[in-house]
Amino acid sequence: MPSITVEPCTFALFGALGDLALRKLFPALYQLDGAGLLHDDTRILALAREPGSDQQHLSFIEAQLRKYVGAKEIDAAVLERFLARLTYLHVDFLKAEDYLALAELAELAGREQRLIAYFATPAAVYGAICENLSKAGLAENTRVVLEKPIGSDLESSRKVNDAVAQFFPENRIYRIDHYLGKETVQNLIALRFANSLFETQWNQNYISHVEITVAEKVGIEGRWGYFDKAGQLRDMIQNHLLQLLCLIAMDPPADLSADSIRDEKVKVLKALAPISPEGLTTQVVRGQYIAGHSEGKAVPGYLEEENSNTQSDTETFVALRADIRNWRWAGVPFYLRTGKRMPQKLSQIVIHFKEPSHYIFAPEQRLQISNKLIIRLQPDEGISLRVMTKEQGLDKGMQLRSGPLQLNFSDTYRSARIPDAYERLLLEVMRGNQNLFVRKDEIEAAWKWCDQLIAGWKKSGDAPKPYAAGSWGPMSSIALITRDGRSWYGDI
Ligand code: BG6
Repeated sequence: MPSITVEPCTFALFGALGDLALRKLFPALYQLDGAGLLHDDTRILALAREPGSDQQHLSFIEAQLRKYVGAKEIDAAVLERFLARLTYLHVDFLKAEDYLALAELAELAGREQRLIAYFATPAAVYGAICENLSKAGLAENTRVVLEKPIGSDLESSRKVNDAVAQFFPENRIYRIDHYLGKETVQNLIALRFANSLFETQWNQNYISHVEITVAEKVGIEGRWGYFDKAGQLRDMIQNHLLQLLCLIAMDPPADLSADSIRDEKVKVLKALAPISPEGLTTQVVRGQYIAGHSEGKAVPGYLEEENSNTQSDTETFVALRADIRNWRWAGVPFYLRTGKRMPQKLSQIVIHFKEPSHYIFAPEQRLQISNKLIIRLQPDEGISLRVMTKEQGLDKGMQLRSGPLQLNFSDTYRSARIPDAYERLLLEVMRGNQNLFVRKDEIEAAWKWCDQLIAGWKKSGDAPKPYAAGSWGPMSSIALITRDGRSWYGDI
């Protein structure tokens, strides 16, 4: 049985028939139930406004749950218990009177039962939902969970945040960045601050540069409408990659409390150097995939995907060099790279350490002398430290080679299933722990930095550089790093 206790709650899921709810949220709640992490009295309300009977919608949710959890992981007893918690409620999110039924159900559950309202809806309606919750007397003590994207720039994100803040205080607002719920991302904190070996080296004296790659094999497919308005900078860099950068770059927090961690992350975001107009061409690369191959099959380009607009200049790839203006990181570039339709799905951070200060080996081997710490977030989660040793053999002299000290999480901790990010995040909302959620000032600092890039691109009018689907992005992303005398790790 689990060693943590979770209070009962009424979990109201707005947008319950949407893709995110069906693909991620219901399966995550089901897994929590299976792990004994939902209180017996916890109820789940599926809220949506699609026509059809409640029973039809519940059957649809069940079918999707079976599909996304997978037959192997479905346990009949857990499923029965889970479905017994579930109620469907037809609500037009914009109509105040539709919230009365929700208020009645909440009342039935008892006043001490906390309401958690999860908004899996467009951010444009967050304010209206909050207002209607408040009018129905449902705001007091309620926690609200906001999905990304919160706005599309600093100004629009402020509007959303301000609208929510009229009804809910910051300590009851949980902004999701699902990367923070990934086990390996949480491990970054343990790795950095529970190992003095690393923490003493974690600065510009010992680290030469850092790479963060988040590559996806999939293209845009059915999501063109949403994605084309966003692009890879807004969709991935503004949130996931900058959050990873913060966890790597932040100073040690005073403790593990949500605010201590978030205070340190905000400092990093505020210390990011703005990118100059000239830097826009040397430090940043935007790409868009054209037709190519994925897993041996021909795939269309971004502009040929279903429902596409053939004129779009939205980027599906970004590589950039970010610099952090503080004592710890002065002169240490952070190279970020993310794209759709890459050769493989891969999220990885590589910390490149500097060469030893006094070099005594053969001059021709000098270039390969550097330790690297490779943190693989997905797939094959694990950590590997590349160290230099001598080649074995009487004929080898002092020839050096680089080899890994390896920790592969799935092999080492074989019995443990790696939970999905949303399981962790939903659990932490129920426990009232804001550690893994993004504070308003973090979102705003991240937007501020991204806005200057978006404005620069708009001004220059340059089209994104084409790259073939199934490749690692435009050639200029290689030039971006070779210009500094470096290359992407693994030569990929
Ligand atoms: C989402 C983006 O936030 O993250 C998607 O909107 C992207 O475009 C997804 O595909 C990637 O998440 P993961 O967990 O599969 O790496």
